[in-house]
Amino acid sequence: MADDPILSVRDLHVSFRTKRGLARVVRGLDYDLHAGETLAIVGESGSGKSVSTLAMTKLIPMPPGQVSGEVWLGDDDLVPLSEKHLLHYRGRRIGYVFQDPMTSLNPVHPIGRQLTEGMRYHLELSDEEIRERAIDLLQKVGIPSPEKRLDDYPHQFSGGMRQRVVIAIGLSCDPEVLVADEATTALDVTTQAQIVELIGRLQDELGMGVIWITHDLGVVAGIADRVLVMYAGQVVEAADVDALYARPRHPYTVGLMRSLPVLGDLERRDLASIPGLPPSPTALPEGCAFHPRCAFRDDDRCATEAPPLRDIGDGHLIRSFYEVPEEIAQEAAAEARIEIEPPDADDVGDAAAEVGSRSGRGGET
Ligand SMILES: Nc1ncnc2c1ncn2[C@@H]1O[C@H](COP(=O)(O)OP(=O)(O)OP(=O)(O)O)[C@@H](O)[C@H]1O
Ligand SMILES: [Mg+2]
Repeated sequence: MADDPILSVRDLHVSFRTKRGLARVVRGLDYDLHAGETLAIVGESGSGKSVSTLAMTKLIPMPPGQVSGEVWLGDDDLVPLSEKHLLHYRGRRIGYVFQDPMTSLNPVHPIGRQLTEGMRYHLELSDEEIRERAIDLLQKVGIPSPEKRLDDYPHQFSGGMRQRVVIAIGLSCDPEVLVADEATTALDVTTQAQIVELIGRLQDELGMGVIWITHDLGVVAGIADRVLVMYAGQVVEAADVDALYARPRHPYTVGLMRSLPVLGDLERRDLASIPGLPPSPTALPEGCAFHPRCAFRDDDRCATEAPPLRDIGDGHLIRSFYEVPEEIAQEAAAEARIEIEPPDADDVGDAAAEVGSRSGRGGET
């Protein structure tokens, strides 16, 4: 993409002061996001995916959190901005679909009130216009009879429908960037496909850049343009989606692909998962952060020297001294059987119609 990025993150660091010392949870993150582009951030639990995006608008407790680096949204660097100034960006220019839909909706307020809160703060619209916009947003995210649902409380919606409301809130102020943090993780496969299709369609309509966070490499294959694989607060591999799924080259990415469960082969996860655990952010190992778990490590160098992120061709970046050999990488990719095609819109359309008709009969509400 030739045009200027809408978001540029440069050397972003996030740490927390804890009783056990400084937890360095994001350690020098760099990426660009263009209008209409989907960037996926994948990695195991605790790798810093959520914190790296929350920290952009300081949605982390500060202190104990601290943020450094640059986060350019258009011509503005958000990192030096005060809380007061950040209020103009948070939810307005960067929309968030927070990781946990149960905590991102307040159980004691009707969803209409929660959906319009940001709009009332950020947009200069009359009450009537805000109501119309709320109805339109609920319609867009596939909630049947939206005008009747504004006064309903979160518990009156199914998990899938609640997640749609949370997405509507993320979209409510027409953000340039939408952060969708595990937006489909808690949902069944059909609803998951619908939400993926929905965000893709809204992105085409509204031209947003989307940061799609997930621990599941399979989910993003069909929707991302570029993928960042994070480990212990750093990018260990980054590539355009086709290259990453066809030829993963970092030992960690290959390990992640091998640990994907395959239908009909339930024992595989145990057989092939990555041994050991990620390091604690307060006690990171010397050298390469992944070396204690790496099947390809060269003990001397990997245990003492931190590998830089290097370009192995066409913007495919890896942070390793070692490139997994092409044959092994391709084998892991083939075994993972990840489809790079986007979800079939017809299937999703049929499924959505089904959900619609079921909800008409009081099914999914
Ligand atoms: N307020 C905090 N104080 C101290 N440490 C924190 C705080 N918030 C997050 N962390 C730590 O930051 C690290 C990264 O957390 P983050 O939530 O970004 O992980 P994640 O990659 O999103 O994981 P998951 O897949 O489980 O959502 C973790 O080690 C977490 O314990
Ligand atoms: Mg997270």
